Amino acid sequence: MKLPYFLAKRFVAGETFEAAVPKIMELNNKGIKTTLDLLGEQVTERKSADQALQDYRIVLKKIEEQRLRSNISVKLSMMGLNINKDYCRDNLFALLDTARETDNFVRIDMEGSVLTQPILDLFKEAYKIYGRHVGIVIQAYLHRSKDDIARLAEMGADVRLCKGAYHEPERVALQHMPAIRDAFKEYAAILLQKTTFPRIATHDEELVEWVKNYAAANKIGKARYEFQMLYGLRQNTCEDLAAQGYNVRIYVPFGTRWLPYFTRRIKERKENVWFILSTMLKR
Ligand code: FDA
Repeated sequence: MKLPYFLAKRFVAGETFEAAVPKIMELNNKGIKTTLDLLGEQVTERKSADQALQDYRIVLKKIEEQRLRSNISVKLSMMGLNINKDYCRDNLFALLDTARETDNFVRIDMEGSVLTQPILDLFKEAYKIYGRHVGIVIQAYLHRSKDDIARLAEMGADVRLCKGAYHEPERVALQHMPAIRDAFKEYAAILLQKTTFPRIATHDEELVEWVKNYAAANKIGKARYEFQMLYGLRQNTCEDLAAQGYNVRIYVPFGTRWLPYFTRRIKERKENVWFILSTMLKR
C-alpha cells in the first residue's frame, strides 16, 4: 500500500533533495548542522543499491556546490549488505572516495541486530582507509555495546551514540528505559573521556542534561562534542542548545522510501498516532 506523503511530512524533509534544501538552509542559518539521510533500506536488488550509491554521490557533490553545512548518513542494507558483503564494501568505499574528494563525511547508521557485526566489520575496514571521513553508530540498548564501545573508543572512532530504534529480543537488548538510560550514560562518559568528538543522539531531556553536567564537571568543553536530534522532533530544544553554544546537528531524512523510517518514529511514541489521525482528519 502506498501511503500519501503528507502523513510523513513531520519527519521527512521532502521527497527530493531539492525539496529538502530550503529546510537544510533554514537550520544552517540558525547555527545547526545537518546529516542527510536518503531514505531506503533492506535493498535486495543490485539495481537499487547501485542507484542509491549514485544518488548519494550526487548528494555529496550538491552539498559541496551549495555550501551546505551537512554530511550524510547511510544504511549499509541500502548499499547492498543483504546481497553480498564484498559488493557492499565496494559501494561503501566508492561513496567514501567521493566523501574524501568533497572533504565530507559519511556516518554509517546502525540497523537491526542481525546486521550489527557485519556493519561494524565494514566500518573498521573503512576506518583504516578513510579515517576522519567515516563514522559509526552504537545503540545503548544492545548488551554487546559495552565491548563495542570500548574497542571503538580505543580506535578513536567517530561514534554517534543513540538508544536504538529496532525491536530486539531480551537476549540481545535491554528492554526497560531506566536500564537503557544507565547504559547510555555509561557509554557517553566513555566516549567523552576517550574520543575526540562524540555525537550524543537523543531527545531525552534527562540524558541531554546529564551529558551537559558530566562534560562540565570533567572540564570537557562544549566544542568537544555534539548533540544530534531527528528532523521534526524537539526543534526548539535544538535551537536553544545552539544558542547556548553547543554543537547541534539534525538528522534530515528525505526521499520517497519513507515508510520504514516513518513507522519506527510512529512506534516510538503513542501520541504520534493521534498526530497522524488528526492530520488525516484535517484534510
Ligand atoms: P525517547 O524515545 O525516550 O524520547 C525522549 C523524548 O523525545 C520524548 O519524550 C519525546 O518528547 C521525544 N521523542 C522521541 N522520539 C519521538 C518520536 N518518535 N516522536 C515524537 N517525539 C519523540 N537508532 C538506531 O537504531 N540506529 C541509528 O543509526 C540511529 N540514528 C539516530 C540518529 C539521530 C540523530 C537520533 C536522534 C536518533 C537516532 N536513532 C537511531 C534513533 C534512536 O535510537 C531512538 O530510537 C530515538 O532517538 C528515540 O530515543 P530518544 O533517546 O530520543 O528518547
